[in-house]
Amino acid sequence: MTADELVFFVNGKKVVEKNADPETTLLAYLRRKLGLSGTKLGCGEGGCGACTVMFSKYDRLQNKIVHFPANACLAPICSLHHVAVTTVEGIGSTRTRLHPVQVFVEVLTAFIHSSPKISEHPYDSLFELCQERIAKSHGSQCGFCTPGIVMSMYTLLRNQPEPTMEEIEDALQGNLCRCTGYRPILQGFRTFARDGGCCGGKGNDPNCCMNQKKDHTVTLSPSLFNPEEFMPLDPTQEPIFPPELLRLKDAPQKQLHFEGERVTWIQASTLKELLDLKAQHPEATLVVGNMEIGIEMKFKNKLFPLIVCPAWIPELNSVEHGEEGISFGASCPLSCVEKTLLDAVAQLPTHKTEVFRGVLEQLRWFSGKQLKSVASIGGNVITASPISDLNPVFMASGAKLTMVSRGTRRTIRMDHTFFPGYRKTLLGPEEILLAIEIPYSREGEFFSSFKQSSGREDYVAKVTSGMRVLFKPGTTQIEELVLCYGGMADRTISALKTTRKQLSKFWNEELLQDVCAGLAEELQLAPDAPGGMIEFRRTLTLSFFFKFYLTVLQKLGKVDSEDEVPKGQSEEDMVGRPLPHLGASMQACGEAMYCDDIPRYQNELSLRLVTSTRAHAKIKSIDTSEAQKVPGFVCFLSADDVPGSNKTGFFNDETVFANDEVTCVGHIIGAVVTDTPEHAQRAAQAVKITYEDLPAIITIEDAIKHNSFYGSELKIEKGDLQKGFAEADNIVSGEFYIGGQEHFYLETHCAIAVPKGEAGEMELFVSTQNTTKTQAFVAKVLGVPANRILIRVKRLGGGFGGKEIRSTLVSTAVAVGAYKTGCPVRCMLDRDEDMLITGGRHPFLARYKVGFMKTGRIVALEVDHYSNAGNTLDLSEAIMQQTLLHMDNGYKIPNIRGTGWLCKTNLPSNTAFRGFGRPQGMLIAEHWMSEIAVTCGLPAEEVRRKNMYKEGDLTHFNQKLEGFTLTRCWDECLASSQYHARKSEIDKFNKENCWKKRGLCIVPTKFGVSFTVHFLNQAGALIHVYTDGSVLLTHGGTEMGQGLHTKMVQVASRALKIPTSKIYISETSTNTVPNTSPTAASVSTDLNGQAVYEACQTILKRLEPFKRKNPSGSWEDWVIAAYQDAVSLSATGFYKAPDVGYSFETNSGNPFNYFSYGVACSEVEIDCLTGDHKNLRTDIVMDVGSSLNPAIDIGQVEGAFVQGLGLFTLEELQYSPEGSLYTRGPSTYKIPTFDSIPIEFRVSLLRDSPNKKAIYASKAVGEPPLFLAASVFFAIKDAIRAARAQHKDYDMKELFRLDSPATQEKIRNACVDKFTTLCVTGVPENCKAWSLRV
Ligand SMILES: Cc1cc2nc3c(=O)[nH]c(=O)nc-3n(C[C@H](O)[C@H](O)[C@H](O)COP(=O)(O)OP(=O)(O)OC[C@H]3O[C@@H](n4cnc5c(N)ncnc54)[C@H](O)[C@@H]3O)c2cc1C
Ligand code: FES
Ligand code: FES
Repeated sequence: MTADELVFFVNGKKVVEKNADPETTLLAYLRRKLGLSGTKLGCGEGGCGACTVMFSKYDRLQNKIVHFPANACLAPICSLHHVAVTTVEGIGSTRTRLHPVQVFVEVLTAFIHSSPKISEHPYDSLFELCQERIAKSHGSQCGFCTPGIVMSMYTLLRNQPEPTMEEIEDALQGNLCRCTGYRPILQGFRTFARDGGCCGGKGNDPNCCMNQKKDHTVTLSPSLFNPEEFMPLDPTQEPIFPPELLRLKDAPQKQLHFEGERVTWIQASTLKELLDLKAQHPEATLVVGNMEIGIEMKFKNKLFPLIVCPAWIPELNSVEHGEEGISFGASCPLSCVEKTLLDAVAQLPTHKTEVFRGVLEQLRWFSGKQLKSVASIGGNVITASPISDLNPVFMASGAKLTMVSRGTRRTIRMDHTFFPGYRKTLLGPEEILLAIEIPYSREGEFFSSFKQSSGREDYVAKVTSGMRVLFKPGTTQIEELVLCYGGMADRTISALKTTRKQLSKFWNEELLQDVCAGLAEELQLAPDAPGGMIEFRRTLTLSFFFKFYLTVLQKLGKVDSEDEVPKGQSEEDMVGRPLPHLGASMQACGEAMYCDDIPRYQNELSLRLVTSTRAHAKIKSIDTSEAQKVPGFVCFLSADDVPGSNKTGFFNDETVFANDEVTCVGHIIGAVVTDTPEHAQRAAQAVKITYEDLPAIITIEDAIKHNSFYGSELKIEKGDLQKGFAEADNIVSGEFYIGGQEHFYLETHCAIAVPKGEAGEMELFVSTQNTTKTQAFVAKVLGVPANRILIRVKRLGGGFGGKEIRSTLVSTAVAVGAYKTGCPVRCMLDRDEDMLITGGRHPFLARYKVGFMKTGRIVALEVDHYSNAGNTLDLSEAIMQQTLLHMDNGYKIPNIRGTGWLCKTNLPSNTAFRGFGRPQGMLIAEHWMSEIAVTCGLPAEEVRRKNMYKEGDLTHFNQKLEGFTLTRCWDECLASSQYHARKSEIDKFNKENCWKKRGLCIVPTKFGVSFTVHFLNQAGALIHVYTDGSVLLTHGGTEMGQGLHTKMVQVASRALKIPTSKIYISETSTNTVPNTSPTAASVSTDLNGQAVYEACQTILKRLEPFKRKNPSGSWEDWVIAAYQDAVSLSATGFYKAPDVGYSFETNSGNPFNYFSYGVACSEVEIDCLTGDHKNLRTDIVMDVGSSLNPAIDIGQVEGAFVQGLGLFTLEELQYSPEGSLYTRGPSTYKIPTFDSIPIEFRVSLLRDSPNKKAIYASKAVGEPPLFLAASVFFAIKDAIRAARAQHKDYDMKELFRLDSPATQEKIRNACVDKFTTLCVTGVPENCKAWSLRV
């Protein structure tokens, strides 16, 4: 059979693909075949939304054009026949009009005309509203997530020009951002909300975005904001649905056939065709949304040679309202199911829609709109996932499934027999699922569903459940009780043993006790069960039932609503909006170029790393014979191919490719080079390696036991510890553990090496924070001088420290590949590889002893810090130094000793991460500080304040504190958060609520600013002034979303006294500014800013005579006059931070140039039954000196705080006992989402606090605020304490351990109660737990 042509449209242009390969995703096609690089690859698994595009098609059943968002990374091109695709490039550009967000102006205009409230706004405030859109609301930092977010919002507005706020939040549910802290994005988009503004149009909130001009914490700089920049709408830009597709709407659809390298795709057009195909090829795989199959192909290396797509078949897409329920064709997308059920709930009597509401509850937390728009209901059922959200609901409700094959048709109720095994169903090989009927509920019937995952909209659930009870008419006597669970076995199960015993019993406390005891007995999990968290999961099964029990009682009118939470106010603090991030418009249009967006070279090759699957082993053999058979294979690279030195790394303790031993899972052994990334992936998977295992050390405890450390201990000591402890009224000692963190920059590591063919020259484009080390390492590996290697960095899609050193893993490998092949070689890591290979923030274990007086005053402290450094030293020592230098946080400790040990383990090397060891040191400090308060029976805020430093005090490293503003920040935050009043309200709330508790905490941060390696405190800049007056500026720092380039342009603009529009920064490169320090340690603005300033001064000095000669002339006049007088218009600038230099040996000298300070107060609410927590409110007061750019600084404060929120409450890396990372993508590793940020988030910058130690009196801001999220951690602990205090025998001075992150599991387990005690599960000695604390 010959293959058909695939026809679809992209941004209005017709694409005809004659060789459509079913294995090609839309994302790969857009980026590589069509050169549309605006759509980004963030994860490849549907979890981050960076690849969001809009699909439009003519829906024959609905008889209209429909638009919906979709993830291009999982959409096979073959599924797109006669679909119109719109990408970010298709909705606007900086060349034609400002950016796609301006498409929203149309909507805004409509909105203005229709909303009297808005039309009352003066003209310029409308522009101000427009500015709040993503580019100009500072909702874009590194910008990598921005096109995806714009497309989600754009699609919503195409469908719903006047959305509600809830719809906006729903639309963004499938998008992640790692930089901004989300608030500015939401704020920008919320002005579209029909219900008006950020506060829902109540109009009476002074902080509402509509009123922000009136009430502002940060002074606006009107000169940086010109409303006229905002271009009017050009309606011709609105993409229209292709007329050709519209004309085809009535034409009969015919079967299509696409043939790829390994896979055939048949698009069936009728049910008969489908059943015939299944009869002829029972092994054929059906694909609808590809959400399951796509993942299996990409990540599990599965091949599905014959795919049949039933998405067009009318019977599989129909929705029928029947006598007993609503029947959905199996291909109906989940969004259709959701919409239909929502309508039914609105129209039908409540008692009929109990089950529908259960389904809707699950769908609400079901990943994002992108997924729901394409994933089918049938696909969900047949996937038979043990953690499916919907199957427990369908099973508990007794949903009916209709299955057909050629000549047969049967309808069965889904019950416990439907899933006979792991990922198995009762479906026969030739059968397909035709439809599923979701039943109406009856009078006397109640239904609830539950899902617990790491975060509410996290799609990988821990435990899911559907629960149904039917009472005998007019009674509370049970006629039917069904409790179904996901996540408690290898399939969806029904707790039959427990429920059968309850028939005819009454719905009362006795039944509750009985069911809980029964569930605890029946739903066991082996101690090594996949997924771990055994006690938590078991407890959840009981907690869910308890919630169901209470809900039913409530519906029966037997109890008052318990734990009804007063509605949180949604209004947010307004921030300053001076000069937006310079790249924001381009980022929002998808025009901003990241490393992998650089167009492919004609002869370019793709590289894929081959890594170890063992933590510690000898490599016995490497067999590449199968890899060589993969089409497009070029070569395999190993240590033997390195022309220079294979030794690399900061301390020369790493290799480009392992020699004969591997020391962690993910250790790079070699690499394959092929023609395309897809072939490279296949070839890498085909390389066979055999190992001989060696003993491995995985955890900190293992390392301590085996004395496995790098070097000797690091130490800071001051005062007389013995005397201090002898004087103390009380001594508390203990252990505290802080888990690691994955950087999760949205752009993964990427590098392209281009050999120049002359004298060993090579040019590399790299996503790195460290051009100099990249240059040095590549030169060494290739055995050439550094002057042959040019490193170029346009911008990074996030770095956070992860690209300070670890980026060299990829850049050295591609350099070797380019050297060997003589061709350009590119490698962009997939998310799972990136997470596996490149390490993250160090896990820490602290053993502490603290002595204090009854008043709460601390007199002695001893802390041993252990970090899990991994298999190489990297930056671990410098990180530990910062931990020791910050072990005091903001407190004066007269007698102190801190030691630090770097544990050498068989994990991938851990590395720099925003905060660089300080957050761990300070969290430990706040931990023992909170224990002092509890032991003394004093309010924590009082003890903290009592111990705080004062102006002029010496720290434990003997640096004098000058310009100490921490106490000012503290007092302002205490006042602005109304701490004391809220504390009383919280006490009241906690007394009135049994299963929900609130907690409040205020914490300070003192953050030392400088590199600890002293010579790094230097920077260079280069300025060229051209004869037209335009200025090309270069400095040593890289732009990764922190707004560094914007600030540098501001510095140059002020120094040269010319508008920012005349100044341009193109890139960072080693041939413009050499020997740069990494862009890190929050000092890049200080150092580079001063270097830029110096360069500007040189230029100004040279222009001075021409200015004097022509005082009324313009900048351009002076520039041209200087040129004509043969005066150089190019200058360098150099700066070195003065007076920085500290010795650990003598505990003397100043490690820091100055300190940044801040304080945060956070309130949380925990659900004691599930361990969920809500961040109700956070107030931050931050000292950033005289802010260079308040908008960028506030963005940094929020972004850092939200990243800290992830660190301390959400993000948990899980390792197997063998040292293999389980959490390798957004499905298993939860970073904060739109839903995680505080409902009220108020950030203010301390006024009138100029800093004389940095450029234009500013202060570092990138890292310092991260630690402030500790306020959330300790507020959670406060709430847990309130839960524990309910026990009769509670001791007010009880200390209990809560390690970081405070995940749901830890919160739930710490809220000990009657349910947790029923589920205690030990791990027998001979049994390995599923995961380890490393
Ligand atoms: C990012 C992401 C988030 C997710 N979130 C959730 C979540 O929150 N909760 C949850 O429960 N699941 C979740 N999933 C799983 C996914 O939603 C479901 O598996 C989805 O509904 C599958 O639908 P699909 O159409 O994409 O299936 P496909 O991948 O196209 O097919 C899945 C399976 O069903 C079979 N199949 C499809 N239709 C039929 C039919 N008519 N007859 C017989 N067999 C058929 C296919 O052959 C295949 O085996 C998520 C998946 C991803 C990638
Ligand atoms: S790249 Fe597609 S969702 Fe992340
Ligand atoms: S701006 Fe969102 S990930 Fe960087």
